[in-house]
Amino acid sequence: MSSVTPVEMPAVGSATARTSHLYERVKRVIPPAEWGVLANDVEAIQHLKIERNAVILAHNYQTPEIYHCVADIVGDSLTLAREAATTDADVIVLAGVYFMAETAKLLNPQKTVLMPDPEAGCSLADSITPADVRQLRRLHPGLPVIAYVNTSAAVKAEVDVCCTSGNAARVVKSFGLPKVIMLPDQYLAQNVAAETGVEILSWAGQCEVHERFTASDIAELREAHPGITVLVHPECPPEVVRAADFAGSTGAMADYVGVNRPSSVVLLTECSMSDNISVQYPDLEFVRPCNLCPHMKKITVANIRQALEENRHVVEIDPETAARARVSVERMLAL
Ligand code: 13P
Ligand code: SF4
Repeated sequence: MSSVTPVEMPAVGSATARTSHLYERVKRVIPPAEWGVLANDVEAIQHLKIERNAVILAHNYQTPEIYHCVADIVGDSLTLAREAATTDADVIVLAGVYFMAETAKLLNPQKTVLMPDPEAGCSLADSITPADVRQLRRLHPGLPVIAYVNTSAAVKAEVDVCCTSGNAARVVKSFGLPKVIMLPDQYLAQNVAAETGVEILSWAGQCEVHERFTASDIAELREAHPGITVLVHPECPPEVVRAADFAGSTGAMADYVGVNRPSSVVLLTECSMSDNISVQYPDLEFVRPCNLCPHMKKITVANIRQALEENRHVVEIDPETAARARVSVERMLAL
């Protein structure tokens, strides 16, 4: 005997019903029961954004309900920094990790920048202090120092220029020197050195998400899924980058999929990337081994709503540090 599972219809007049047009965008990756829990916050955020003239900048690693249903701007670290520099909103909510909110604040000292959970850190940003940078400068006088944006404002204040994974090679080459310092990600530094031919001194920092991928993961994937296209983030170890078909920032990975439309693809990076992109390309097969970033996952629609309702947590940077750090970020944006 066949059985039929009744589909529960959202009650007319409920938040679930009123947000059904938003649910349409994510129904392939969020089950209806889960949307029932998220709908209230999603709806409240839509109203709060208008009331407060706020924009939500969301990183590509945010969950699909944030990325597709409440964010105004989505992208990689470079896109978020660029967009933060040009917004005319009064309030910026950063759905991402703390260094991203600090970068937005550096570029908008007069605006309110809110971080829904200030505990959302980053293993790279935590790996180096301003004193470490000063020590590196003493040990290698005359070498320019480039800081990955995944650093604190206090570290950015000590360096010559910033970079992201989207422009690291360009920033390194801009000095026209045979040797530079780029910190704190040793793997990104090694990957950029291989790409540019410039000798790069780095630091022992690693991304806790990307350091876990291995070249054997890729070999196994290729065996299990013949013809698969493998995309990786340049925070992965060099042997992983060498074994991949393409390495690039999260934004570059998304563009690669859009342009090349590989019929079967794996993104060796944070898990929400595939969820977010697969929504846009339902005809492509996304194979999904991935690692979660526990920091990115601290941001939820519940704490974004709370941030807007209660004006928390306001990002503040000491003005002297901010002035010096801003120069490093603005130099990067000018390149
Ligand atoms: P992207 O700049 O490529 O978005 O990377 C940010 C990040 O934190 C990657 O782990
Ligand atoms: Fe930091 Fe890695 Fe998380 Fe990105 S994925 S925020 S680099 S820990």
